[in-house]
Amino acid sequence: MTTTATEDRGFRPGPGADGAAPGLGLTRRLRRLRRSPALRALVRETRLSTDSLVLPLFVLAGEGVRREVPSMPGVCQLSVDEAVREATAARDDGVRAVLLFGLPEAKDAEGSAAADPEAPVQRAIRALKRAAPDVLVVTDVCLCEYTSHGHCGIVRGNDILNDATVEHLARAAVSHAEAGADVVAPSDMMDGRVGAIREALDEGGFEDVAIMAYAAKYCSAYYGPFRDAADSTPAFGDRRTHQMDPANVEEALREVALDLEEGADVVMVKPALHYLDVISRVKQEFGYPTAAYHVSGEYAMLKAAARNGWIDEERAMMEALTAIARAGADILITYYARDAARVLAR
Ligand code: PBG
Ligand code: ZN
Repeated sequence: MTTTATEDRGFRPGPGADGAAPGLGLTRRLRRLRRSPALRALVRETRLSTDSLVLPLFVLAGEGVRREVPSMPGVCQLSVDEAVREATAARDDGVRAVLLFGLPEAKDAEGSAAADPEAPVQRAIRALKRAAPDVLVVTDVCLCEYTSHGHCGIVRGNDILNDATVEHLARAAVSHAEAGADVVAPSDMMDGRVGAIREALDEGGFEDVAIMAYAAKYCSAYYGPFRDAADSTPAFGDRRTHQMDPANVEEALREVALDLEEGADVVMVKPALHYLDVISRVKQEFGYPTAAYHVSGEYAMLKAAARNGWIDEERAMMEALTAIARAGADILITYYARDAARVLAR
């Protein structure tokens, strides 16, 4: 007989509740808690908050410049004054943190502009701190936006030199701190950069500047639109010798462990949606503040499908962000930050 199995699932033949049709006599009906918006809200397990949102901004020289990135509809390269305007508007929407990327006026093989106090990012930090001191300023620390070859480090032949690169990154991070950054976010994936940046910041008297490490950053096809926005497509080769293989998760845990040992305050997984398992394990195994970056390609895919009328953009956006939070991310870095904040506010 199969009765044991069906009884275990709460199957009890009997009359229906209304006495009309015979019901199944179920003791467990999970649909009971889905009957109304208020009831669903009461039992919701994941609640998105504007507190978690970080908006990336691309800053360049000039004034009054707002240049939309073709592969990222709604995202613009902004001059410093426009970046301040955008950050202020975002704050008014409820987004309290921005992540700055820079497009320098000139690039060279060493990416010297990365540590230039007069480069767009450093200027934008100072302008933001004057105009909107309540906005948290996070800065991306890498060389790829600043090198003529588009690589994340100093190149010799076909190699990206680890230790020489780390020195430059530390200088860039200190220049961001000097300009007033609250958090620096190294995205280069060189070994030992978190420790070197921590040491350099401390030596400069910036003990209170936090490090958000791009700890598990995968070599992903989904950074394509970003490289248009930041003008950072490598002129030759790719990023496989430093970014992680999408096939690996144990290695991501080693990356996170090392970054934490070296002094990272927040660890990041990137991209987000294809790496929910990584986010989940990082949060569960380390319990540190965990960020996830819903990257340019993830954004562009939703935009493209929505523009074709193939998906409901707002629902897809909220579903994506909810999934990333459900996996364990505390911090959501997303080009949708302002749109999501506006949805959350109503
Ligand atoms: C720079 C950097 C990249 C991103 C963030 N920082 C690009 C890359 O590694 O090529 C990607 C962000 C996005 O795709 O939205 N190292
Ligand atoms: Zn880079």
